[in-house]
Amino acid sequence: MPTFKDATSLQAFLNSQRTGNNTVGFVPTMGALHKGHLALVTSALSQNEIVVVSIFVNPTQFGNAGDLKNYPRTLSKDEALLKTLHNDIIVFAPNAEDLYNGNITSNSYNFGAIANEMEGKYRQGHFNGVGTVLELLFDIVKPDYAYFGEKDFQQLQIVRKLISLTKQPVTIVGCPIYRENSGLAMSSRNERLSKECRDASAFIYKTLQKVKEDFKYKSARQLNEWVKSEFDKQEALELEYFEIANIDTLKTIKRKHKNNKYRAFIAVFVEAVSYTHLTLPTICSV
Ligand code: PAF
Repeated sequence: MPTFKDATSLQAFLNSQRTGNNTVGFVPTMGALHKGHLALVTSALSQNEIVVVSIFVNPTQFGNAGDLKNYPRTLSKDEALLKTLHNDIIVFAPNAEDLYNGNITSNSYNFGAIANEMEGKYRQGHFNGVGTVLELLFDIVKPDYAYFGEKDFQQLQIVRKLISLTKQPVTIVGCPIYRENSGLAMSSRNERLSKECRDASAFIYKTLQKVKEDFKYKSARQLNEWVKSEFDKQEALELEYFEIANIDTLKTIKRKHKNNKYRAFIAVFVEAVSYTHLTLPTICSV
């Protein structure tokens, strides 16, 4: 399984592999791979002859230096995990200076109103960082398909918008959330939780499920109040935001409309000292 550190040798290798109707599937990651990532790679493997996984902790999308520093980096373990899926997965693990051509800064994109909601509001500059690194990676890998998890549903919508802005010829594929047995969405950041807090985090999904159930007969305002009061009782969990939003506009709903689709979004700090952040959306429709 080849691992490339520089773009030129990756591109030379990809050019030698691209023949006939072969398609390239691409899974961009920040490493510390878990089953959620592996599910994305499995989808890519089932739909493409060539699969590239990038492993790159992207500095421009972090607003918090501590979070960037503590983000888990486990390249050899990641390579071994990918090998359990397929021998020919191509890994691209560049260093920041090379990928950014010595200029590690974000472009400024006009993603429109969806970028002002939730993560855009709470983590200024985050989506510009994500957009910048993906534009660079798509230029290098030139994938036909790129795979993203719905755990970061807003990111998925932003990536679709990015493609419409840059006109890069790649089809974006959204894949369902992959959860631990407790219901906690798989995330590389879960690795930083103590066993106690990881167990306590199961409460997040339980709450989302109850919201989904009650959405049929309760208003968004009632549900917001209920979620806040439930989190107030949780010592290990600090609610950052909870919103029920339209899945297209990502605008918080004031009133339910028939035939509109909604999703509940939640961000919670667990063990605030180590700044762990989890976004766990679930679907709600009337
Ligand atoms: O979702 C992630 O892991 C990152 O935001 C991504 C898409 C790999 C860009 O760095």
